[in-house]
Parts: sequence; structure tokens; C-alpha cells
Amino acid sequence: MNGDRPAGFSRRKLLISAGGSLLVAGTARMAGAACLAVPAQTEGPFYPRRLGEDTDWDLTHLGQGTERAQGVVIEVSGRLLDDVCRPVSGGTIEIWQADVQGRYHHPAAAGAPDEGRGQGADPNFQGFGRVTTDADGRYRFRTIKPAPYGLGGSFMRTPHIHFKALAPDGGALTTQMYFAGESLNGEDFILGNVPPDLRPMVIVDFAGQSADGVPRGIFDIVVG
Ligand SMILES: [Fe+2]
Repeated sequence: MNGDRPAGFSRRKLLISAGGSLLVAGTARMAGAACLAVPAQTEGPFYPRRLGEDTDWDLTHLGQGTERAQGVVIEVSGRLLDDVCRPVSGGTIEIWQADVQGRYHHPAAAGAPDEGRGQGADPNFQGFGRVTTDADGRYRFRTIKPAPYGLGGSFMRTPHIHFKALAPDGGALTTQMYFAGESLNGEDFILGNVPPDLRPMVIVDFAGQSADGVPRGIFDIVVG
């Protein structure tokens, strides 16, 4: 059993009352009074070394620029929850991701100069965003769907968004969110390390729509 557990997955979160039925509520799985933590996944090498001036909720525009980032605009929203599924207000949610060319705005990215905006990277894409959860624990980002990217050899990362969540009481989670229906999902070695029964928690269906018609996915984040 322990070998199937992702990093940071405490025994306490695996304790499910015998009489409690396991049900899926958004991406937060509830069992009795417990709320299963979203599996932790690696931060990877592309967390920003230095934040830009623009780190707001809308990654499709950079600073005062009027041009929109290339790619399919999406919204991802959800709630930050504690391990008994109570909303966590005042928490910090950060995302970072590749652009429509599969490039991170980071010095470690392929072709990136010192300032971290690699050759061919979209100059209008913000790359990183940070928001604070509201009184109901909710957050929202507008961004673009990231492209897959190669890691050398034949290793490809399926499209994904990196998340880091911090609760005011110190609870924290670093993970990655994936897109339902992607052909590369079955080959991605990081997603493949998430136990199969927990993968639905990190694979999000963007079948919903925002009020202005943008594809929207719901990704709830449970921290202990
Ligand atoms: Fe990544």
C-alpha cells in the first residue's frame, strides 16, 4: 500500500470511514468526514527564479500590453479545501506553465536567454500567476492551454499546469493538473506516477464554459 502512495500523502488522509461511500465532488473526493488530498507531484525545474511585474490572475496578457497571448484561452477555477473539506480563505494559489509553443519563460527552458524568455516564446504570455482565495476558498485563473513539450530523448510531457497552494495555517501542496482526453496522458511519466485511482483528481475536463464562453475546468485543491 505504502508504495502506491504519492509523496506527502499521509496515512491520516487515507483513513476512510468503513461506512462512508467514496464520492467525487468536483475533483475533491469526500469519504465520510475526510477529504482526500490531491496527490502531490514534482515542482519540476521551471518555477520562476524571479517573478515578473505582472503576476495577476489573467495570464493571457502581460503587463499593459494590448496583445493577447497565442493559443486557446481557458479558465481554471476551484476551491482550496482543508482535509475535512472546509473552504480555506486567504490561501495563495500559484500556477506556472508552458506557452502555446511548449516553452516556459525560464532560464532553464530550451533556448532561453538569461532573462528567461526563450527564443520563440510568446512575448505576450504571462507564464506565472498568483491569486488569493476568497471567503469561500475560491480561486480563478484565465490562461491558455499549454502545448506538450519534450524533455530530451523521446520523453514528452502531456499538456499540464503546475500548481502550488499555500494555506494560511501552513498547509501546502505542489502538484500538476492535466487535460482530459489528451493522447499523451497515457505516456506521461509524471502523471503515470500518480496512482491510477487518484488520477481523476488531477485530470480536468474543460467541457464547461465561463460566462463569456471560455472553456472552463474545475480543479479543487485539498491541503492537509
Ligand atoms: Fe511542466
